[in-house]
Amino acid sequence: MSGYIGSSGVCGEDVTILRTFLNADGGFVSGVALAETIGVSRVSISSRIHNLELAGFKFSAIRNKGYRLEQEPTELHDSLLEAYLINNHVNVSVFSYKEIDSTNSEAERLIADGRDTPFVVFSTRQTAGRGRKGRCWQSQSAQNLYFSFAFRPQLPPSRMTKFTLWMGVALCDLLDETWGIPARIKWPNDLLCNGRKLAGMLTEARIDTDTMRDIIFGLGLNVNSQLTDFPEELRGIATSMRDISGKTFSINALAASVIQCLLKAYDDFIGGAFEAVLKKRWIDYDCLNGKRVKAETATGKLYGIVAGLNEDGSLAIVGEDGVKIALWAGDVSLTTQGVQ
Ligand code: BTN
Repeated sequence: MSGYIGSSGVCGEDVTILRTFLNADGGFVSGVALAETIGVSRVSISSRIHNLELAGFKFSAIRNKGYRLEQEPTELHDSLLEAYLINNHVNVSVFSYKEIDSTNSEAERLIADGRDTPFVVFSTRQTAGRGRKGRCWQSQSAQNLYFSFAFRPQLPPSRMTKFTLWMGVALCDLLDETWGIPARIKWPNDLLCNGRKLAGMLTEARIDTDTMRDIIFGLGLNVNSQLTDFPEELRGIATSMRDISGKTFSINALAASVIQCLLKAYDDFIGGAFEAVLKKRWIDYDCLNGKRVKAETATGKLYGIVAGLNEDGSLAIVGEDGVKIALWAGDVSLTTQGVQ
């Protein structure tokens, strides 16, 4: 584990340099002005620019004009991410790693250490990324995002039942409005596009008798990977933002937007402002509504037709006998079997 940035300020000067380039919006930035802003020599600026180049940035330099940022690194870069966050007016502690077992596990450890919430944990790769029911989440590609948000809601668990669904709705809004990606939610934790998996959400919580003490929301979002980057068994069922749009995305800018969106979504959730929006948006984003499904639960299989979301966030299914069932947990898949 390495590369914690958080609010440590360790990379503060790089952050200032990078913010200056972002604000220049593709224009030239004078080395003299940078040196004055940071209070270091021109030589020191050129050595920092050189170090940034080693980390994957590309700059052009013209005498009397200065430097221009030509290309960002294709992987998550902690100072660049922080620069984007500050420019978006987002103030949150970020713990950033090159490689870690699981960002959800690291968030758990940081919570156990008594860190203030909210905070975000990012990793370029995970060695033991996990999904629901202990399934593995492929996390070898640095072209995708793996991150976890930690909160201490201090609310009764009954108030949190729609939390993952709401975060999914907020993500669908962001993906559609900002990048034109038409994602849909497959209850309870998948984001799909064209029937393929674009993202997975994993919410894990610790409950003290009647209070949800902490909650960790993990997100794996396939951004710039190509289908050939996925293991063979996933190529037929996975997709990425690049696969859908044919474009590659600035992974750092995108990560900052997702953080901003999800922090706001959490505030709206806790403040209760989400209820009316969720009801309306669920209809737009639910990819199971009216579909014939097979639900596999701890107690067995059942077939039926999905009839929307219940008030408590459970999935309403009308079974083969016409009886409405509320599904709380389990795997749901489309099927042609069962109800005739
Ligand atoms: C699922 O589809 O079952 C949920 C997948 C969630 C994967 C993310 S990646 C970041 C975070 N860390 C993990 O170990 N899992 C979540």
